Amino acid sequence: MIRVRVPATMANVGPGFDCMGIALSLYNYVELEETETGLKVENCGRDAAALPTDETNLVVKSIRAYFKRVSVEPRGLFVRVTNEVPVSRGMGSSAACIVGGIVSANRLAGNLMSQDELLHLAVELEGHPDNVTPALLGGVVVSSRDEEGTDHVRFDVPGELECLMAIPNVSLSTKMAREALPKEVPFADAVYNVGKAALLTGALMQGNYAVVEKALGDRLHQPYRSKLLPSLEYIYEKSREKKMNTLIISGAGPTLAYLLLPGSRNRQDEFVRLLEETPETWELKKLQGDNTGAVFME
Ligand code: HSE
Repeated sequence: MIRVRVPATMANVGPGFDCMGIALSLYNYVELEETETGLKVENCGRDAAALPTDETNLVVKSIRAYFKRVSVEPRGLFVRVTNEVPVSRGMGSSAACIVGGIVSANRLAGNLMSQDELLHLAVELEGHPDNVTPALLGGVVVSSRDEEGTDHVRFDVPGELECLMAIPNVSLSTKMAREALPKEVPFADAVYNVGKAALLTGALMQGNYAVVEKALGDRLHQPYRSKLLPSLEYIYEKSREKKMNTLIISGAGPTLAYLLLPGSRNRQDEFVRLLEETPETWELKKLQGDNTGAVFME
């Protein structure tokens, strides 16, 4: 049996819309075996009952996409998916499914694709690179996709960086969260985000947390998406008023990430109080970075 572990991811990281992501210490597991015939899918762990056990399962779809690409036809398949990453919460569950599917299928087929080819297939299946690249490679990944493909730079998440994730008991589809974005943005907002994203990348690489704290501003997605859920809007507005700069929306939301930066004044209690002022219930998880990415469990 092939077993792969794939990390959750926090995409966007404030200003890096569709181009930055960090792998986190929370995991999905994909097990894959070739059988005589047919398809058997088992979902275990978080949200298991809500996930399909047929060809519509995202892990299965990704496995099929891989086999189609390499022109291999397995006889039958047994797939077991064990999830820790919450579904449709902005923590990269779909990226983890895609990466888990294609990485396990690649091993089953005899490693017909290189890591780079897997990365490109994952980006194609997900449609943007910011979640799948850290899910595959671990660490902080900055990537850019154009007509010619995806280029990326990866570096380790500093060991001392922690994130307090607040996961609400409501989900938000990425499709809806993308539809909430405007077709055009003011030039000044685009300039603002370019500056912040470039600053954030450099500051994270240097471990310069005083600058990281100032580099998390975003005008491209969070102001629009926070309006999708009154509680998100409330906490987002309050956090701006209180200058809690390291409170951001994880991926497309609705999970909130409070980055706990070494050497800065972390106001976790205030964050928790804000959460308690909303009608939702929030599950809190303190996570570190993952620098391994997709890995086989022997
Ligand atoms: N960059 C993506 C978004 C991440 O914010 O829509 C979610 O898939």
